[in-house]
Amino acid sequence: MARVRSRGIDSHGVPSMNRQRTQVCATAHGAVAVMIALAGMLAPAPGRADNSEPQAATPGRFGIGTVATAADISARNIDIMPDGEGLPRGSGSVARGRAVYEQACIQCHGAGGQGGSVAALAGGESVDPAVMAANRSISHTVGNYWPFATTLFDYTRRAMPQDQPGSLADDEVYAVTAYMLYLNGLVDADAKLDAASLPQVRMPAQGFFRPDARSASAAP
Ligand code: HEC
Repeated sequence: MARVRSRGIDSHGVPSMNRQRTQVCATAHGAVAVMIALAGMLAPAPGRADNSEPQAATPGRFGIGTVATAADISARNIDIMPDGEGLPRGSGSVARGRAVYEQACIQCHGAGGQGGSVAALAGGESVDPAVMAANRSISHTVGNYWPFATTLFDYTRRAMPQDQPGSLADDEVYAVTAYMLYLNGLVDADAKLDAASLPQVRMPAQGFFRPDARSASAAP
């Protein structure tokens, strides 16, 4: 019997053929040990129970906040997909966009979107990725780097003008988007854009980007 024990049982007294299972059990026992230790931390220390203030129970609700209504959610649910999903009603012309731009954008982005205290929105000599990669001084603009006109609408509506984001009406966003596209030679001077026509504007840089195939709403 002694010889059988020395070959078939390991130093923990467990048959060696069951070693893997034993490790799993040991891990499970380890977790139990941790849980017991934590429970010990939460329990009153022995001998101190009489001196301690009773701990207030954590309330199920804190009584703050309100339930988000459908209107609250839709006011924040303003993202627009590359294919135009999510675009609001309304429309705007290049001419109207010029007026919006001169009132709300020119002070930072400069006349004709050529850049002022901040980035240029038009120009950017090349739309060739190899040339742009080799020459870092070429500005990345709407015309040479933005893949979707719909994203330009989304970004402008949520983030611009930077000192008053969200202040433009949807018609004004369509208009100033049309104006930025016009400045980049991507729509005509008499263009008027809406939810149907904006997604049709083909951006030169679209081929630089790959749709994320993991997303159901990725662009085709
Ligand atoms: C107070 C200054 C200011 C005003 C006014 C302003 N912008 Fe901007 N804009 C910025 C800054 C700063 C950035 C860069 C933001 C960043 O990179 O995070 C920017 C970035 C942009 C971009 C992205 C450029 C790019 O290629 O990355 C667009 C498009 C844009 N603005 C459009 C507009 C439009 C349209 C208006 C007017 C409705 C406007 N901005 C008004 C400061 C301004």
